[in-house]
Amino acid sequence: MVQAKCWVMTKHFDGFPKTSDFELKEEELPEPKDGGKTLWLYFFSLLDLNRFRVKEGDVMIGTQVAKVIQSRNPAFPVGSHVVSNSGWRTHTVSDGTGLTPILPEWPKDVSLSLALGTIGMPGLTAVYGIEEVLGLQKGETLLVNAAAGAVGSVVGQIAKIKGCKVVGSAGTDAKVAYLRELGFDEVFNYKTVGSLEEALRKASPEGYDCFFENVGGSFSTVALQQMKNFGRIAVCGSISVYNDSTPQTGPYPHLTMILKQLKMEGFMQSRWEHKHPETLKRLLAWVKEGKLHYREHVTKGFENMPAAFMGMLQGENIGKAVVAV
Ligand SMILES: NC(=O)c1ccc[n+]([C@@H]2O[C@H](COP(=O)([O-])OP(=O)(O)OC[C@H]3O[C@@H](n4cnc5c(N)ncnc54)[C@H](OP(=O)(O)O)[C@@H]3O)[C@@H](O)[C@H]2O)c1
Repeated sequence: MVQAKCWVMTKHFDGFPKTSDFELKEEELPEPKDGGKTLWLYFFSLLDLNRFRVKEGDVMIGTQVAKVIQSRNPAFPVGSHVVSNSGWRTHTVSDGTGLTPILPEWPKDVSLSLALGTIGMPGLTAVYGIEEVLGLQKGETLLVNAAAGAVGSVVGQIAKIKGCKVVGSAGTDAKVAYLRELGFDEVFNYKTVGSLEEALRKASPEGYDCFFENVGGSFSTVALQQMKNFGRIAVCGSISVYNDSTPQTGPYPHLTMILKQLKMEGFMQSRWEHKHPETLKRLLAWVKEGKLHYREHVTKGFENMPAAFMGMLQGENIGKAVVAV
C-alpha cells in the first residue's frame, strides 16, 4: 500500500489565490491492477489556468514528470519516466491513460524537468503558435510579451532561428537582461517604460508583422495599434486577466482590426497533438545544438507547491516554473 499526498483546492479563488485556498491531504493508494502502474512524482509543472478548471474539493490540475515505481504493464517498466497529467499528487495509480513516455533518445545530461518546459508543452505551444497560427516568415518582425516566461522565451529564440527580428517585453530588468542574452533584437521592461506605445514604436518604428500574445488586457489594446496592415496575431494566453474577479471591459479591438485588416486567432497547443512526437524531437535537437537555451525557476519540496504557484502568477519566474520533489 502506497501513502500519497495531494493538494486540494478547498475554496475557489476569489481574485488572487491565497494559502488558505489549498489543503494538503493524505490518501492510501491501492496496488495497481493488471496493466496498471504506480507513478512517483519527480518534477511538477506550474500552470496558470487552474482556476478555470478546478472545482472546490478537487485535486489541483497539472502535469508532472514521474517515475514508474510499481508496474504490471511491460510497456512502462519500473524505473522508466513518463509525463503524466496526474495533478498535484506525490503518487498516482494509473491505467496508462494520458501518459506520455519520455523520448527514448533523451540525453542523460539533460534534466527531465525540460519535458515540462522547453522540450514539453510550453515548447510545443511556441512552435505551433509560430508555425501553424502565425506562419512566421524570414525577415518579418515579431512581438512577444511575457517574453521571459516558459513559452515566450522559446518563441523569441525560434523566431531568431527563422531569421526574424524579435521584440520582447518583460516585467523586470533581470528578465530584460536575460532576453538580451538570448539574442532578442529589442527588449524593454513594460513596467518601467513611461509609455508602452512609445516603447513599441521605438523598438520597431515600421510596426509588427506578427504578435505572439501571452498577456491580453491593456497591453493587447496598445500593441494592436502598432501592427502593420494585414498583421497576424496568435492569441496564446491572457495572463493579465486570469485572476480578475470582475471581467475587464473594453476598449474593444474591432475598429483597429478593421482598419489594419488584422487576423487574430486563438489556439490551444493540443490541436496539433498528432505532431507532438516530431516537434519534441525538433526541440530536443535545437537544445542539443545549442540553438535553444533555457532557464528554469525551481522550487524544492511538495509542501511548497501553493507558494510556488502563487509566485509564478506574480511573475517571479524566469523560464519555466517547476517544483522538484
Ligand atoms: N494556448 C495554449 O495552448 C497555451 C499553452 C501554454 C501556456 N499558455 C499561456 O501562455 C501564457 C504564457 O505561459 P507560460 O507558461 O510562459 O507562463 P509563465 O512562464 O508562467 O510566464 C508568465 C509570465 O507572465 C507575466 N505576467 C504575469 N501576470 C502578468 C500581468 N498581469 N500582466 C502582464 N504580464 C504578466 C509574468 O512575467 P513578467 O514579469 O514579464 O510580467 C510571468 O512570469 C500564459 O498566458 C498561459 O496561460 C497557453
